[in-house]
Order: sequence, then C-alpha cells, then structure tokens
Amino acid sequence: MFTLYRLLHPNDSNLKRYWKHRGTIYYSDSEKIESLDPQFKIQEKVLIECLKNISFDSCLEVGGGYGRISKIILENFKINNLTISDLSDKQIKNAKKFLQNDSINYVTSDIDSLNFEDKFELVIAITVLMHISDKDIVRSIRKLHELSSKYIIHLDASDFIAQSFHVFDHDYEKIHRMIDPNINIKTIKINKQKLFLIQK
Ligand SMILES: C[S@@+](CC[C@H](N)C(=O)[O-])C[C@H]1O[C@@H](n2cnc3c(N)ncnc32)[C@H](O)[C@@H]1O
Repeated sequence: MFTLYRLLHPNDSNLKRYWKHRGTIYYSDSEKIESLDPQFKIQEKVLIECLKNISFDSCLEVGGGYGRISKIILENFKINNLTISDLSDKQIKNAKKFLQNDSINYVTSDIDSLNFEDKFELVIAITVLMHISDKDIVRSIRKLHELSSKYIIHLDASDFIAQSFHVFDHDYEKIHRMIDPNINIKTIKINKQKLFLIQK
C-alpha cells in the first residue's frame, strides 16, 4: 500500500495528509500482518515486561492507530483512565470497533494539538515519533513531556538510514535531555527498533 500511495501521490511530502489517507486503509492493511508477524509479538512482549516494572494509573496513547497497543494495556493492566489519540479520524473509528470499550476516551488529534486538564502518569507512542519530521520532532517530544507526570514510553526504529519519505532517524536521547536534563532514560534494543523508557 505504501507503494500504491506513492504511485498515486508521487509528490506528496505532507506527512499529516499521508497519515490521514493511510488511516483509511491502515486497519485492513496491517491488522493481519501485525497479528501474524513474529516481530510484532516480540515488540509486544518486551513492552508488556517493561510496563510490568512501572506503576501507572492513567495512560495516554498517542498515534494509537486502530488500538493494537491500547488493547494490550487493557488486557494486562488495571488503570482508571485510558485515552487513545490519533490524527486520523478513521483510525480512531477503527479503534472504537477494535477495542469495544466505552470507558476509553477516544480523541482525534495530532500530537502537537493535544490538550488535557490533567496529566497522564504514562504517555506512550509506539512507532509514531519515527514518522515526525526533523523540523517538528522537538516540539512533539516536548508535548509528550508536558502531558506526562511520570513516564513516557516510545518505541521507534533506530540506527538506520531512512528508506522512505515518512521515516526519520532522530537522536531521541539528546532531544529528551535537552527538554529535561533531570530525567532517567532506559533503552531496550529490539532488533532494529529501540524502546525508550523515560522517567521524570
Ligand atoms: C505506524 S502507525 C502505529 C500505530 C500504533 N501506534 C501501533 O503501533 O499499532 C503510526 C500512527 O501514528 C499516527 N500519526 C502519525 N503522525 C502523527 C502525529 N503527528 N500526531 C498524531 N498521530 C500521528 C498515524 O496516523 C498512525 O496511526
């Protein structure tokens, strides 16, 4: 589908427009792959182990897609407030169907426009920040820091040369430390991806 999109929109470098379009086909495109591909199972296993070692009562998932990660959180952890957000309205509609849970807050918004009265103990973004451009990444990560009171977890591809117009390789550790020098950062390498656990 990436290839088809690029054939139809060869000059489109607008990432938000790309994700809004991709959101209309993401679930049918990805759900089967993600449930069958062992890479995703490894990623999910490491994430669950990491979450078991921290305590959190509220969670905001950003760029949550159709709800793959929120479902894992729901099935494995007891929390009072789970909010899932994504810039694609279609992804949020799919998340409602996939998660089938009325106690979750569903929010259509890009990261930078998110705004809540209260902070979340955990803010999580799985394979989302790697899709934010160099120009916008500091602002988006700063937003995650503003929204979190205790932890940020993100997982992104690392140490590679981007092969696609919507994939970026950022120096996450440097950006986090620039935003808040007092945090603890733990990283876990999972094949070509890295999970970052930021403790405030
Ligand atoms: C590769 S998908 C990952 C979905 C989900 N986190 C998962 O792991 O199954 C990236 C998601 O991030 C969303 N996204 C991309 N850029 C975003 C932004 N600036 N703000 C909010 N969501 C964004 C896309 O719409 C898409 O649903």
